[in-house]
Amino acid sequence: MRRVTIRDFWKKKSENEKIVMITAYDYMTAKIVDSIGVDGILVGDSVGMVLLGYENTLPVSMEEMLHHTRAVARAKPRALIVGDMPFMSYQVSKEKAVENAGRFIKAGADAVKIEGGFEVIDKVEAIIKAGIPVMGHIGLTPQRVLQFGGYRLMGKEYEYAIRLVEEAMMLQEAGVFSIVIEFTTAEVAEEITKRLDIPTICIGCGGDCDGQIIVINDIIGLSPFIPSFAKKYADVAGVIKEAVASYRDEVRSGKFPAKEHTRYMDKEEYKKFLKALRERGL
Ligand code: KIV
Repeated sequence: MRRVTIRDFWKKKSENEKIVMITAYDYMTAKIVDSIGVDGILVGDSVGMVLLGYENTLPVSMEEMLHHTRAVARAKPRALIVGDMPFMSYQVSKEKAVENAGRFIKAGADAVKIEGGFEVIDKVEAIIKAGIPVMGHIGLTPQRVLQFGGYRLMGKEYEYAIRLVEEAMMLQEAGVFSIVIEFTTAEVAEEITKRLDIPTICIGCGGDCDGQIIVINDIIGLSPFIPSFAKKYADVAGVIKEAVASYRDEVRSGKFPAKEHTRYMDKEEYKKFLKALRERGL
């Protein structure tokens, strides 16, 4: 089995084939999504909101991200693993950014993702110079939620739309292998996609991109909040509730565990056990 590389991402763009990415944060989910043939797995900092119960992605630490990246890497997926650099792991200095990107690679990621455009370009260049593939991320960048004043649709006005196109081109110039575009108007994502040689992987920007990425919990019905651009393909929370309710009822009624879930001593050993109990006055 040959693993997906960044060159496969470029090939897909040149052959007009859609790239499919999804988030995963643990061993078992990584195994499952990989078994159905996705191209890339993002260990997203969305883990903070959908698994760890944080209000936003800002509290997510490097240690938490590395813990989840290692779990995904242990699944040995065919898909490209992208580690999402958390808030304050790359903003402070180029040296810190390179060091932290390296920690993701040592944890088993094949590339890292960084949120931002103009303001992070020196960090992006430094990481690429160190030999680590970088995925850009523009549009709605959730680590700037406080600055944006919420999770807003980006690129509604032409001035900001132009800024996004310029940022995308600058990131390509800096050497990123692909760019995530999040929650922009469809026109912005389409115009960026047409102008870039590297693939755009979109979330909440319509279909005129080279690929799509989505937070797994948002499409399987296992999120505290489901964004308007996500489609619910399953009701896993419902399935879990039903299973746990049946378990609860069967424990209370004595139906579970049944004989087939139980192991017994052989008869002779049991007799000896009872005798020993009696002899010891127990
Ligand atoms: O953290 C994440 O899951 C992401 C995707 C939404 C692109 O950054």
